[in-house]
Amino acid sequence: MPRILYTPYDLRGRTCRNRLAAQAMELNSADTGGRAGEAVRERYRQLACGGWGLVFTEAVAVSGDALARQSGLMLTRDTLESFKGLVASFREINPSAPLIVQLNHPGRNNCDPLKRIKIVRDDLDDVPVATVTQIEAVRGDFLEAAALAHQAGADGVDIKACHGYLGAEFLRPSNTREDGFGGNSEGRARFLATIIAELKSRFPGMIVGSRISLFEGIRGGCGTPAGDEIVEDLEDMIGMLRLLAAAGADFFNVSAGIPVMTPMLTRPEARSSLLLLDHFRYAKTVKAAFPGVAVIGSAYSAGRRDATALAEENIGRGYADLAGFGRQSLADPFFPQKAAGAPESIDFCTLCGGCSKLLREQRPVRCTVYNPERRPHGSAEDPR
Ligand SMILES: Cc1cc2nc3c(=O)[nH]c(=O)nc-3n(C[C@H](O)[C@H](O)[C@H](O)COP(=O)(O)O)c2cc1C
Repeated sequence: MPRILYTPYDLRGRTCRNRLAAQAMELNSADTGGRAGEAVRERYRQLACGGWGLVFTEAVAVSGDALARQSGLMLTRDTLESFKGLVASFREINPSAPLIVQLNHPGRNNCDPLKRIKIVRDDLDDVPVATVTQIEAVRGDFLEAAALAHQAGADGVDIKACHGYLGAEFLRPSNTREDGFGGNSEGRARFLATIIAELKSRFPGMIVGSRISLFEGIRGGCGTPAGDEIVEDLEDMIGMLRLLAAAGADFFNVSAGIPVMTPMLTRPEARSSLLLLDHFRYAKTVKAAFPGVAVIGSAYSAGRRDATALAEENIGRGYADLAGFGRQSLADPFFPQKAAGAPESIDFCTLCGGCSKLLREQRPVRCTVYNPERRPHGSAEDPR
C-alpha cells in the first residue's frame, strides 16, 4: 500500500486528501449550448466517488467562439445554472476534493474553421492572426468565465496554456508579435500573467494556475530556446513560468506536446510509454525551480500497473506534489480508492487510444475497453 500518495496536500488552504489528481479529459458530451447535463454530471459523480485528491474538469470553452469540440462544455451566463448543478452533484458525494475548472480558448484548433485564430505569425496554416482587439476580448472572456466558475462554487480555475491551444501560443519563443503580446518575455507572458494577477486580486481565495506544455516538440515551440530551434532547452519556459508565478499562480500542471502535432509527447501510448520519463523530468524541473508552487505531473496512466509505485517514488523524492492521471481516470474512475484498498480490482488503462479516437471523431468520449456501468469499491470516504 503506497504511503506518501495517501498523505494530504495543502493547495492554498484547500486540502487534497491524497496526491492523486484526475486530469482534465474532454468528454464531448455537453447538452445543447455547452450545458453540463446528466452525462457530464455522471462522470464527475464517479470521480467524486472515486476518492481523487484533486479533480480538474475537462476543458471548458470561455465563450461560444471558443469551442474545441462540437459538444464541448461552455461557461457563460447562459450555462451557469448547469455548472452550479455540476458542482453541487460533485460536492454532495465528495465535499472535500478541490474542483478546478479548466478554462480554454482553442485558438487555431477551434472546431468551427471560421472561428479559428492564431497568435504566432507562422506558416503552419492559413488561420488569421488575432488582432489586439480580439486578444483583449478573449482575455475578457477568460476573466468572465473564471468569475462564473467562482459563482458556480468551483475551488479554482486552470487558465489552459498547454497542448497547442491559444494560451500556449503566447508563450512560444516564435511569438514575435510587436504589439505587447509577444516579443520579449514580458510580452509573451502578458496574456496569462495579467489574467492570473487580476483573478488573484478579485478573488483572493480562488486557486488559480495553468496547465502548460513544458516542451511542445515543434520548432520555436514552448521548451525551445529560440523561434528557429527545435532542440529542447527548458530555460526559456522556466523564465515564462517565473513571470506567471510572480503574477500569483498557485499551481503548474506540467504537461507536454500538442495532440494534433506531437501526440505521443502528450499521451504516450503502449509502444512509446517510455516518454513518461520525460514527463517525470519536466515536473521535476518545474518543482525544482518553484518549490512554493504546487506541481502536478502528467501522463501517469502510461505507467499502467507501475503507476502508483512511480507516483509514490516521484512525490516521495519531491519531484512533484501530485500525480495526474488522464486516461486511467476514464478506464477506472475509482482508481484512488481501489489503489488504497483493493488494487487487484483496478481496471488498468491499456493505452489503446480508443478514447482519443472518439474525441478526434467528435463522438462522446468514454473508455472503449471497460464497462462504464462498473461500481466502485467501498465508499468515497474510504481512502483517507
Ligand atoms: C480523450 C482525451 C481527452 C483529453 N482532454 C483534455 C482536456 O480537456 N484538457 C487537457 O488539458 N488535457 C486533455 N487530455 C490530455 C490528458 O489530460 C492527459 O494529459 C493525457 O491523456 C496524458 O495523461 P495520461 O497518460 O494520464 O492519460 C485529454 C486526453 C484524452 C485522451
